[in-house]
Amino acid sequence: MKNQSYWQLSVKPLVFETLHQSQEDEVSIIGGGLTGIMCAYYLRQSGLKVSVYEAEEFGSGSTGHTTAKITYQHGLIYSQIEQLYDLDEAIRFYTVNKNAIEEIASIVEREKISCDFEWETLRICGSPSQKKNIEKEVDVLRRMGVSLVYDEKECFFEIEHQAKFHPLKYLYALIQICAQEGIRFYPRTKITQIQAHDFSYTLKTERGDTIHTNHLVLATRYPIREVPSFYSVKLYQERDFVCMGQTDDLPSYMYFYQEPLKSMRSYQNHLIYVCQGARVGSPMQSEAYLKDQLKENESFYPNISWYNQDVYSQDPIPYIGHFSRKDDYCYMATNYRGWGMTSATIAGKLISDLILHRSNDYLDLFEPSFHFFKGKWKPWFSHIGYVMNSEIHDRLFSQGKDKQVLEKGEGRILRIHGKLKGVYLDEQGQYHMVDPICPHFKGILHFNKQEKTWDCPCHGSRFDIDGQLLDGPSRDNLKTLD
Ligand SMILES: Cc1cc2nc3c(=O)[nH]c(=O)nc-3n(C[C@H](O)[C@H](O)[C@H](O)COP(=O)(O)OP(=O)(O)OC[C@H]3O[C@@H](n4cnc5c(N)ncnc54)[C@H](O)[C@@H]3O)c2cc1C
Ligand code: FES
Repeated sequence: MKNQSYWQLSVKPLVFETLHQSQEDEVSIIGGGLTGIMCAYYLRQSGLKVSVYEAEEFGSGSTGHTTAKITYQHGLIYSQIEQLYDLDEAIRFYTVNKNAIEEIASIVEREKISCDFEWETLRICGSPSQKKNIEKEVDVLRRMGVSLVYDEKECFFEIEHQAKFHPLKYLYALIQICAQEGIRFYPRTKITQIQAHDFSYTLKTERGDTIHTNHLVLATRYPIREVPSFYSVKLYQERDFVCMGQTDDLPSYMYFYQEPLKSMRSYQNHLIYVCQGARVGSPMQSEAYLKDQLKENESFYPNISWYNQDVYSQDPIPYIGHFSRKDDYCYMATNYRGWGMTSATIAGKLISDLILHRSNDYLDLFEPSFHFFKGKWKPWFSHIGYVMNSEIHDRLFSQGKDKQVLEKGEGRILRIHGKLKGVYLDEQGQYHMVDPICPHFKGILHFNKQEKTWDCPCHGSRFDIDGQLLDGPSRDNLKTLD
């Protein structure tokens, strides 16, 4: 079943042609989510030849499945930043995110975009066990000079002047504006190879077309290039279940709950609700869990649902800027940790400033190589430990030798004639067999019962039952087996 969000179902698709020839760019942007499109937006009047290449349709990644709360309060982030860096860095992060909210509001107004943009208060709540963390965050915010309302008894605080919108109405309007200014857009154009030269890059598409470019922007959510930076030692992905439906009990604020994480916002007369997610490759929350979570709101009838995923590390600040110290002309943006609306706006401005040699006060705040080394290393070991554990366990204890053990609708890794195979038996009794080794860095895939996909616990690549790539960082499909 296609993973389609309400946003995708409620807008008319954009009509652009797939790339059908080799070509030259001055700037190639890979990825047509909010990050890639914001970059294009800030470059649209630069006079540079800019193209955006998207593997699927524009906005079909995390941007098309988001809940689109536009906030500077990204969970309990400022106490983490103060702890890892200092109060000044926390204030800078707050300022740049606050400016990004104002920037989105002013783009909406200036470009006359109908995207249901509304200002709204955000409420951050915690269970009694989270009280200390909430207090710590409130204390840092107050020392930063942020105005808020704190209810100690009920364990929540509220921040005014945050916002929300329809993410695809906004994204599609920006694409149309950029296209009118000469930016070229290519949907269904997957980039499968990247070759770096001294001052340029050569890209290859899945169809075999070649693109030469001076500047390369990796706006793919998870960077699809590895060497020489190896971000994958720190970055992984989490996947969440989102549901939406009507209710008589719409809140007048957006809501974010720490531990177990859940969030809520309204859209017209609907409520959108996100449950605590899980690392890609580990078991997803079931419908029963959702029912239990929603029992306090009896008038809520979810009638549409979808999944979404984003990139995480234990470092609280996104990585935005040069891909590596050796690459002056390759840029990336990642590690948004579930807060991409302001992060993508910041990334678009910062990367376009780098390309156009304009100064930007926040370059050092987001510089990927700086955070990569300065960031938290202790949890890095748990990331590696998790991957190793899952690898060793799955290779040694693959679940059976005979595909007859499978029930309809079930998928498992089997060792058949000494070779690992990912086998799925569909409802019609047909077997689908793939090589269960991830093309990215050879992680062993797990079967996702809910979505009927093969998911990689290492960095979050996902594939359908016939091996077609659904989510990167892998650039390749799985091999199918007989
Ligand atoms: C459940 C959930 C709720 C969220 N809610 C919020 C929220 O309320 N507020 C908020 O601020 N953030 C939220 N986020 C986070 C936000 O949605 C993301 O951080 C943001 O959309 C990321 O945008 P992006 O453009 O970087 O990535 P994406 O939108 O994923 O775009 C990347 C694009 O790159 C394309 N691509 C990948 N590989 C290739 C290739 N090889 N060739 C060509 N194209 C390629 C993909 O197809 C994709 O379209 C949420 C995230 C989740 C998981
Ligand atoms: S996503 Fe990296 S090994 Fe699978």
